[in-house]
Amino acid sequence: MAAAGPAEVVVVGSCMTDLVSLTTRLPKAGETIHGHKFFIGFGGKGANQCIQAARLGAKTLMICKVGKDSFGNDYIENFKRNGISTDFVGQTEDAATGAASIIVNSEVKTLFNPAPAHAELDPQFYTHSDIFCCNESEAEILTGISVGTPEDAGKVGLVLLERGCKLVIVTLGAEGCVMISVDEPIPKHVPAGKVRAVDTTGAGDSFVGALAFFMACYPNLSMEEVIRKSNFIASVSVQASGTQSSYPYRKDLPQDLF
Ligand SMILES: Nc1ncnc2c1ncn2[C@@H]1O[C@H](COP(=O)(O)OP(=O)(O)O)[C@@H](O)[C@H]1O
Ligand SMILES: *[C@@H]1O[C@H](CO)[C@@H](O)[C@H](O)[C@H]1NC(C)=O
Ligand SMILES: *[C@@H]1O[C@H](CO)[C@@H](O)[C@H](O)[C@H]1NC(C)=O
Repeated sequence: MAAAGPAEVVVVGSCMTDLVSLTTRLPKAGETIHGHKFFIGFGGKGANQCIQAARLGAKTLMICKVGKDSFGNDYIENFKRNGISTDFVGQTEDAATGAASIIVNSEVKTLFNPAPAHAELDPQFYTHSDIFCCNESEAEILTGISVGTPEDAGKVGLVLLERGCKLVIVTLGAEGCVMISVDEPIPKHVPAGKVRAVDTTGAGDSFVGALAFFMACYPNLSMEEVIRKSNFIASVSVQASGTQSSYPYRKDLPQDLF
């Protein structure tokens, strides 16, 4: 059931079915081996981000294409179960293409996550996004600067501001992230809380989904506050295994976040 009223977070991005086999080792070419577990998961960076924003309470709409097959049907059901509008989820016989994702909220603010990153990214993506959010490896592909510390992330931020970005966020795993903007061109490190991480898969998408949620639903918060809250939500997601299965719902989070 999709939430009524106009969407607050619109995600354009990928949507993939993960077929996961757990085995003790990889098979050699042509070899059949026994696995000990198999499961199907919902993934894709765009869809992950949309699910996280929806679980926090945003009215969300997904724009993507799935195949005309049972996985595609199941994915549409997964969106509906999470209250996401599927009016713009198409079904096609063509193969799904992996692509960068863009999140747009009702203020037409755009948040761009360059995944998978290409060194020759169209320069319009820098100038046309309000927020440009990347992780350490994406930052290195885009700028050639290898990122290990908040200081390195600050250097990346300055380079991306020169390319026309208005606000850059570089996520740093357990270190949280660094933000920098044209209004305040001094890198600011926003640390994440110390947690016991069990599975960091999809943490970046949880972060971006939370960012979109807070920007759309709490437009009066400062960007630093939005980032602090998003760090918190992503740090919750790393404490459980799986991707979407680890994304928290609003009701299970400390209510002073909202
Ligand atoms: N070990 C961790 N402890 C606490 N927070 C984490 C941890 N790993 C990731 N996070 C949170 O998730 C965000 C994104 O993580 P990151 O690893 O940079 O993204 P990606 O999944 O794209 O590699 C971080 O900015 C932080 O808020
Ligand atoms: C950053 O995101 C990409 C997807 O674009 C992923 O392949 C990569 O592992 C991530 N890097 C880090 C340091 O987690
Ligand atoms: C946000 O700020 C504006 C202008 O200061 C104010 O009118 C409005 O009530 C605030 N909205 C919320 C949800 O706090």
